[in-house]
Amino acid sequence: MPTRSINPFATSTSPSSTAMNEKKDQPRRSSFAKGNKFTSLFGGGSPRTRSEAAALQAAIVAQQQALLNSPSPQQINTATISLPTINLTTATGEKMPSEPKTLFQPPSPEEARRIAKASAQFGPLGSQSHRYTSRFTGEFADPIEDEPPYYFLITTYISYLILIVFGHVRDFFGKRFRKAHYSHLAEKDGYAPLNSDFDNFYTRRLKMRLNDCFARPIMGVPGRYITLLDRKSDDGNNTFKLLGSTTETLNMSSYNYLGFAQSEGPCADAAEATVKKHGITYTSPRSDAGTSELSLEVEDLVAKFVGKPASMVFSMGFVTNATTFPSLVGKGCLLISDELNHSSIRFGARLSGAMIEMFKHNDMRALERKLREVISQGQPRTHRPWKKILVAVEGLYSMEGTMCDLPALIALKKKYKFHLYVDEAHSVGALGPRGRGVCDYFNIDPSEVDILMGTLTKSFGANGGYIAADKHIIDKLRAQNAAMLFAESPSPPVLMQIASSLRIISGELVPGQGEERLQRLAFNSRYLRLGLKRLGFIIYGHDDSPIIPLMLYHPAKMPAFSHEMLKRKISVVVVGYPATPLVSSRARFCVSAAHNKDDLDRMLAACDEIGDLLQLKFSSGVAGGAEPEEWASQGKETSEKAIVKAPRWRLTDVIKRGVEDTKVQLR
Ligand SMILES: Cc1ncc(COP(=O)(O)O)c(C=O)c1O
Repeated sequence: MPTRSINPFATSTSPSSTAMNEKKDQPRRSSFAKGNKFTSLFGGGSPRTRSEAAALQAAIVAQQQALLNSPSPQQINTATISLPTINLTTATGEKMPSEPKTLFQPPSPEEARRIAKASAQFGPLGSQSHRYTSRFTGEFADPIEDEPPYYFLITTYISYLILIVFGHVRDFFGKRFRKAHYSHLAEKDGYAPLNSDFDNFYTRRLKMRLNDCFARPIMGVPGRYITLLDRKSDDGNNTFKLLGSTTETLNMSSYNYLGFAQSEGPCADAAEATVKKHGITYTSPRSDAGTSELSLEVEDLVAKFVGKPASMVFSMGFVTNATTFPSLVGKGCLLISDELNHSSIRFGARLSGAMIEMFKHNDMRALERKLREVISQGQPRTHRPWKKILVAVEGLYSMEGTMCDLPALIALKKKYKFHLYVDEAHSVGALGPRGRGVCDYFNIDPSEVDILMGTLTKSFGANGGYIAADKHIIDKLRAQNAAMLFAESPSPPVLMQIASSLRIISGELVPGQGEERLQRLAFNSRYLRLGLKRLGFIIYGHDDSPIIPLMLYHPAKMPAFSHEMLKRKISVVVVGYPATPLVSSRARFCVSAAHNKDDLDRMLAACDEIGDLLQLKFSSGVAGGAEPEEWASQGKETSEKAIVKAPRWRLTDVIKRGVEDTKVQLR
């Protein structure tokens, strides 16, 4: 397959530019030499000199390139506007040929299919006004958390109680009268059951009821749209049968923040060429024969991107955390972790053998209290000082949509002299004017943070994770880290995907495209968040977060919401206990740069309908969504007092006001 420089923004999908591209590949020079009708349009039957022809050609190529690099080319949409055609025959006074020759050609069926495919992976930008720069301004504060009415919380607890009581009653009778069904939970021939009865109660009696909302099989690229393989279960979600049909849905469920999940374009082409050159695997850990030129190049790019002297890449994000903590801390050390840190951090922390303490999510006062206590007490029993203290937080929390309070963490770090580890799995690429993550977002020098960890699975559309730090730390990791010594090295096409996506974001490749991706993501995140608040939903998280949790509370509303969304051909993730507190079940929308405003309006319309159907609009207004007039009329009062009316905007008003209001401070 020839290497193509495809701009997934609409330019590439613009048939006019594609037609020009095709021409570019053809031996254009000869047509100039002959002096055809095209050249006559520019002032003569044949070019006077070769250099003139070359200059003309260069100008056309430059024009094509400019079109390709234009950030919102879909504005030239042949489907909606009539094509400007220049009839060359008329220009030269010749007779009309039977087949009119035009500069712009409507797309061939094949090209139309290609455009549709590209748009299904990355939507065309509707307007340049649908862009915003992700940048922190003002004073960082925790987002205000709204609460539903009490009856909602009480009935949520009652729902769980009913599920648990009925589950136990059914188990009690089932074990006596339907022994065959429970054989896997019973001791057999002296062997203890591997599936402990207690452990899997939750799975059987609660999760199984909503199991059709999870792990839906998909095919194709999880881009702007995602294609689900239709399935059904005749035995209460125990087993599923594929029906042989598929459903294309709007994808609000993948961590495809910058829309790099694509099977076409510069990244895919580069990855394809890499497979041809390097194959698919290095068949060795990094420390043996798995460190290639590509690995070194990617490590260099990652370090430069996040602003650290050195970095190391891993084949899995989970493994990055799981194996790095044991290399950094051990016995006699203290690890202080945010209570909502990802399981890979908890896993690594436990493996390390260090003492583990937790503090309330994002609560800097709680962290400071904890620091004072542990520093004054020292190690247990001996009360010796800690060998080192490491505080681990995430840049952006994937269940809450909250960002860490980096400025406050840095201030505490300077005061109490601990090391800081920031997991940027969801923030790198997704936050900051240059997509460099939380440091970029808060305009803090990355040297203030000791360890920057991130995954390459999300914003970069690849796989794996990285640690970026000072060189001596990376050297130590290379010598000690279990993943370096024993795990597989990242595969060549994955490394190439990382390298090319990083180059696009930093503007080295396809200038303008990276910036547009970043700005589209920032706009989309704020637009959807504001719209949902105005419709009356309780939404968690910070304004610039591309993770948008919509609170459902009741366990039964998880499958109901997911099914209603699916009916409207939208894929969403629903999350409940134990990934969230018992009463805080939610739907979690992941916004992408691949979405456009039409997609988000479709989402808002669906949520509006389902919100009424399932009675989900119970925001009180304290967390935002007020009518701007109302907000303004409240003058300088505190926000909590200012908003007295629960926001319940009409969908049409939400859409009408959205673009404008997304760009000012969200309320
Ligand atoms: C905060 C955090 N760290 C690490 C990981 C693990 O990353 P990966 O999925 O690439 O293994 C995740 C996964 O979602 C995460 O959310």
